[in-house]
Amino acid sequence: MIPQKTVQEILETAKIEDVIQDFVNLRRRGVNMIGLCPFHNEKTPSFTVSPAKNIFKCFGCGKAGDPAKFIMEHEHLSYPDALRYLARRYRIEIQEIEMTPEAVAQQQAEESLYILNEFARQFYQDQLFETDMGKSIGLSYFKGRGFREDTIRKFGLGYAPNEYEAFVKKATQAGYKLDFLKKLGLASQYDKDFFRNRVMFTIYNLSGKPIAFAGRIMEKDAKAPKYINSPETEIYVKNKVLYGAFHAKTAIRKADECILVEGYTDVISLHQAGIENVVASSGTSLTEGQIALIKRFTPNIKILYDGDSAGVKAALRGLDMVLEQDMNVRVVLIPDGDDPDSYLQKVGATAFQAFIDEQAKDFILFKTNLLLAETKGDPVRKAGLVRDIVDSISRVPDPFKRSFYVKECARVMELEEEVLISETNKAVRQILQKRDDARRKKPEVRVNIVPEGGDGEFPTEAPPDFQDFVPVGEPPSKRTAGHEFQERDIARILVEAGGKIYDEKENLTVAEFVLGNIEDVLEDFDNEAYKLIAKEAMQLVLDKQPINTQYFIGHSDQIISELAVDLLHSPWEYSPGWAERELYLSSQKMPEENFNKDSLSALLQFKLRKIIRLGEKNQLLLKAVPSDDPSQLMRLMKVQMKLNEMRNELMKQVGMVVLK
Ligand code: GTP
Ligand code: MN
Repeated sequence: MIPQKTVQEILETAKIEDVIQDFVNLRRRGVNMIGLCPFHNEKTPSFTVSPAKNIFKCFGCGKAGDPAKFIMEHEHLSYPDALRYLARRYRIEIQEIEMTPEAVAQQQAEESLYILNEFARQFYQDQLFETDMGKSIGLSYFKGRGFREDTIRKFGLGYAPNEYEAFVKKATQAGYKLDFLKKLGLASQYDKDFFRNRVMFTIYNLSGKPIAFAGRIMEKDAKAPKYINSPETEIYVKNKVLYGAFHAKTAIRKADECILVEGYTDVISLHQAGIENVVASSGTSLTEGQIALIKRFTPNIKILYDGDSAGVKAALRGLDMVLEQDMNVRVVLIPDGDDPDSYLQKVGATAFQAFIDEQAKDFILFKTNLLLAETKGDPVRKAGLVRDIVDSISRVPDPFKRSFYVKECARVMELEEEVLISETNKAVRQILQKRDDARRKKPEVRVNIVPEGGDGEFPTEAPPDFQDFVPVGEPPSKRTAGHEFQERDIARILVEAGGKIYDEKENLTVAEFVLGNIEDVLEDFDNEAYKLIAKEAMQLVLDKQPINTQYFIGHSDQIISELAVDLLHSPWEYSPGWAERELYLSSQKMPEENFNKDSLSALLQFKLRKIIRLGEKNQLLLKAVPSDDPSQLMRLMKVQMKLNEMRNELMKQVGMVVLK
């Protein structure tokens, strides 16, 4: 384990711009640096690095964090391993300290599960290659399916003999305890072999350790299930595992796309044919954990469905969840009667690749077409279809993508665009409202925690970072109830004068100036609508597009267009208790006349208040940490330090006295 002192040293030493420039070309843009995001495919740079704050953020895909987070994401490392990487880079010596006895015990217990699974994998492999039954039943089966020997070894395929105690005997003789065999599901509760007369598929975690097995039945007319699986354990959490992920991860990153299939054999077949960016959900519908896993490598998913699968439509419903994650989903129907594996065997790799490239259809448009064909012109059913499609579209977080879908779907369904626009906007508003309500109700703050543990497994959550706070409900007092007034003003300034020149010398627009000063608290806007405007403006800045009032007023997203009009017409407001301090970014005169240097102080104060509030919330969290959770305590302390640092820096900038 890395001593806390060293962790601090590493985090303090690592410079975000150095660390990132080992992988990405960056160039200066004002106080920040920008480049092409390494985590998603883009042509105009939205990957922003702030040397001052020592963080990066991509405004395209949303990835953000500190140097350690960048290395975790980019190099697929656990948090401790990312720290070790940074230590090497900066020649910081790590004197690993002993862990607590509990932590040691926990790690050893997990380690022993991997070791036993590895023993089992070897056993099944030996059975496959070395025994007569293994060769005549298992190996001939795999060869008959077209799997080469190197593929069979690469994927840890094997054979479980048709005996009751072959594995149990072998394993206990080797010194493994029966309890462990049972725990891993290698032995049944009656101390017999769990897998019998089945060909075996090893399931690996992301670092290539065997965490579970699946066994496919060999008997022809058996009543037993076709596949049986190991039970869940500490090292095998089913809804977070995708079959093939270890063998696919590099290819997924490279292709910037993940192909998703249903079956183990589909993964292996495609991989062997050179299509390596493929994983399987193993027959179930995608879980959020699995989506999160894919999202770490690419935002693009291509799902291959068996054409005759009755479940296609049901599966499509489950996919709305993926849309919410801002993933781009395309689907391919494999022709009737085949699954990806059998179709590939039939037509060959080149034709297969060409087929899935050509046939891939955008998910929402695909769904629209599929369901439309079913309505057969029936107006009632068509109304139902509109609801269904609107439901999908409204889940897409990106307003630009939404407006694209509205246009396309209206065309496909032969509807007036306006109908779809207003329905979608209604649905979006409902979603935002729901989110808002949920936020107000929940009194607690949630912070994402990196799970400890150096097993190389992907952390399920982002490292602590002030941007990872989820906004929370406000204390009841009206006076402190959010910063909506200031947010409204910021939105107004952006709409009204975003494109005006703020600083001639620097060639800086008002929007660049405003957003440049508050970009790292954009996510913490209390009001979703104002946030939408601010983020939209941010996107324009990043895309180097001109900003003008007309853009917002004429926006295809009705929320934005209505709000823009509203902002321009509403009377001048003051926030409670705000007037006595100073007039905030007054826009009663022409904004550019009024945009003096005081506005910088106003922006910084706005940001300072956000940071202070986040700090207060973190304090509450710190108090609530259970005493048996030192790692959480550690992370919260780190967050607190970072927030305090930012607070002090801001206070200096606005000329306040730094307390303590
Ligand atoms: P082959 O029949 O050998 O080509 O395998 P397949 O992977 O094509 O099987 P199929 O298309 O029937 O099923 C797709 C996936 O669903 C499989 O790879 C399994 O992950 C899962 N599956 C199928 N049948 C069962 C079952 O009986 N039990 C469990 N747990 N999973 C199953
Ligand atoms: Mn199959």
